[in-house]
Amino acid sequence: MGNNAPIGVFDSGLGGLTVLKEIIARLPEEDTIYLGDTARVPYGIRSPEVVTRYSLENARFLLGRGIKLLVIACNTASAISLPALKLESPVPVIGVIEPGARAAVQASKTGRIGVIGTETTIKSGAYRIVLERLAPSVKVFSRSCPLFVPLAEEGWADNEIALLAARNYLTGLNEEGIDTLLLGCTHYPLLKETIARVMGDGVTLIDSARETAREIQETLAEGALSNMTDASPRRQFYVTDAPERFKALGGRFLLGGQPAGRGLSSIKDVKLTEVWNEAGWQKK
Ligand code: DGL
Repeated sequence: MGNNAPIGVFDSGLGGLTVLKEIIARLPEEDTIYLGDTARVPYGIRSPEVVTRYSLENARFLLGRGIKLLVIACNTASAISLPALKLESPVPVIGVIEPGARAAVQASKTGRIGVIGTETTIKSGAYRIVLERLAPSVKVFSRSCPLFVPLAEEGWADNEIALLAARNYLTGLNEEGIDTLLLGCTHYPLLKETIARVMGDGVTLIDSARETAREIQETLAEGALSNMTDASPRRQFYVTDAPERFKALGGRFLLGGQPAGRGLSSIKDVKLTEVWNEAGWQKK
């Protein structure tokens, strides 16, 4: 595996593009391969067994394409399957939970930290476990906010419906007196303004995508894996279903509101069976 190999990134669908966006911003010279498992999204309501099986299949597909580093851009998949993927993968694996938790601990002055995510992420307790390991005195308050995912995909991130949903989900957390709120789902950065309106100025919002990109940069540098060539970066996108929808909505996630589809020109539709059967998975 040379340092010119691409970084592999997977998510349950579109949302991981918010993580890819931060990777591209920080490491513009790196080639990337993104796999969105759009045929099986959402992961956030599925059992740990199923999320782990899907994650292993996605990882196998990317590893079969000669990646040098694997990024689990999905919070749910990171929360559930990071240990399994680390055990199996011959290349470094980075999830979004630890980087986000570290940033939250650094940002919090009172040690009262809120975490929001999908049902499966919150039920797993993954953020709580990492936060308490990093800073044993923190008090963690968690809440799942399932409606935020379809709202972000619908483009309803800052209308009155989003505001109503945010008030319903977040008022209780605000009453706990948290000073930091971890946005523990790929879609939530799109609702940042609405969430900030409900939480008020006293609460710092932490976006794990940005911190994850920083950790990727460090891991590449430590492993002497950074791409040093001058060639312009190659961006590949694979989805397991409905590439047109991915293209239409992806721009909002990847480019923060710029016209749909920009930057998403070469999306390949990959059959799920190909993801299941992909060769090239080398056990350590
Ligand atoms: N990507 C998922 C996450 O970050 C949200 C969408 C889903 O439920 O699959 O948890």
